[in-house]
Amino acid sequence: MTISRRQFLLRSGLVAAGTAVRDAYAAHEMPVAAEPQVSLLDTNSLARYVDELPLPPIMRSAGLRASPVNRAVRIPYYRINMRPFQAPVHRDVPPTSLWGYGGICPGPTLEVRRDQPVQVEWVNQLPARHFLPIDHSLHGAGRDVPEVRTVVHLHGGRTPPESDGYPENWFVPGKSATCYYPNGQDATALFYHDHAMGITRLNTVAGLTGMYLIRDELEDSLPLPRGPYEIPLVLFDRSFNSDGSLYYSTSGNADSPWVSQYYGSAILVNGKIFPNLRVQPRKYRFRVLNSSNGSFYRLSFGTAADVAAAGVEFLQIGSEQGLLQAPVALKELIVGPGERVDLVLNFAPWRGKQVYLRTDAAVFMQFQVGSAKTEDSPELPGMLRPAFRMQESAATRTRQLTIGDSQDRLGQSSVMLLNNTPWHMPVTEDPRLNSTEIWTFINLTDDSHPIHLHLVRFQVLDRRPFDLGVFQLTGKVVYTGPPDALSPGELGWKDTVRVDPQSIARIIVKFEGFAGRYVWHCHMLEHEDNEMMRPYDVLPSG
Ligand code: C2O
Ligand code: CU
Repeated sequence: MTISRRQFLLRSGLVAAGTAVRDAYAAHEMPVAAEPQVSLLDTNSLARYVDELPLPPIMRSAGLRASPVNRAVRIPYYRINMRPFQAPVHRDVPPTSLWGYGGICPGPTLEVRRDQPVQVEWVNQLPARHFLPIDHSLHGAGRDVPEVRTVVHLHGGRTPPESDGYPENWFVPGKSATCYYPNGQDATALFYHDHAMGITRLNTVAGLTGMYLIRDELEDSLPLPRGPYEIPLVLFDRSFNSDGSLYYSTSGNADSPWVSQYYGSAILVNGKIFPNLRVQPRKYRFRVLNSSNGSFYRLSFGTAADVAAAGVEFLQIGSEQGLLQAPVALKELIVGPGERVDLVLNFAPWRGKQVYLRTDAAVFMQFQVGSAKTEDSPELPGMLRPAFRMQESAATRTRQLTIGDSQDRLGQSSVMLLNNTPWHMPVTEDPRLNSTEIWTFINLTDDSHPIHLHLVRFQVLDRRPFDLGVFQLTGKVVYTGPPDALSPGELGWKDTVRVDPQSIARIIVKFEGFAGRYVWHCHMLEHEDNEMMRPYDVLPSG
């Protein structure tokens, strides 16, 4: 069927979780006249829960090779090819052409142990032409560089700079890059994804994303659901044309097709629309990753296939950088682009019934609970790991960093900027190795932005509304109310923080690990590709 974008947006019913603070589609509105009629697939009319949830395979090492940092030591070597492939996103949709690590999306899960380094050779076997609309007016995506470029970043990894996937270190089809991952950090779920300058949003929406699990002894010692009872849930939203091909929005202007946000009509889980997972009436651990380009989700579990159905309580046990101090019982939580949450849900009360996973206005996955009683893992302990709150007094420097956009004549936001400074300007953030700093993100826009720093983990100090007018006139921060309550999961270690509209979020960070050049950026990939990204240097401790 053929519908216009506006009808499509109205119909899709998919609303990002940021709706509490903004209308998810407000920032997405384009001049209607510029939109061609496209034949979009109405994903909401697809049969529900007819596909079983796929589970990404665990990547097998191709053997041992000399470590790049100590040739005398041999460490596991992995080789992952980025390839085009076709796969059905739903039983009744013709196969979709995508790009994937290992020829699948999500890519294979890498599973490693803390302090046991591995090396991964990322091989670009993609075609020379991109199948999504490149905007050559964006930074680093000009006509002077090859169309198809890739570089892999391990998001949340404490990785030496040369292996971190610096956006300008891209490589072209036929080439590869070998990265060294020391894994010197707490057990958690990281993820790897493309980070090529100016086309990250396109490479990622094409399918270049996958999970990376770090295990450690602390995690081993806890009675957490394991093996078949630990399930990765990789979420991203996509739209499709009725022939099954991927639909990516454009501005309607062939010279600058960039759009400030991409929202899909369907939320896929592990690459499927409306999947079903058969579970036993017992506890499960869900490793949830929001790998969407720009959508926030307010996740909850319901007892009926209806957004109004009663919510089911679950436990959050971890955030991006590992386990929380203690499990917290919740009925909903917000997961922004780039964020991960570690959840435990007990299906025992729903023997023989269904439980549903949903975001504000959409139910997108079903759990069919078996009726036979099964063995369960023990109750979780009250404490998962010792509490550790960083003290503001430990910080030797505070930086004020704005998040802003500038409008063009049409009133569309055209450039998104951090600290009012484009990507190519000299480095302005230069913490010393092992120093602690407070970064104060001042959001001047009407959108929530998920801000991510490479290399480090951090803690969120607070998030608080401020007077935008006063700030713009005088540069002074005047708070207009008390801090918003942080959700309990935001009190754990994080690597991405949501900065709400006209709010200030403060984080405290110790710059540990390695000196060198890294980046920090908004994890809405459309923003990141249009200047909302900055290099930063960790200076040697001197
Ligand atoms: Cu997940 Cu710099 O990104
Ligand atoms: Cu942003």
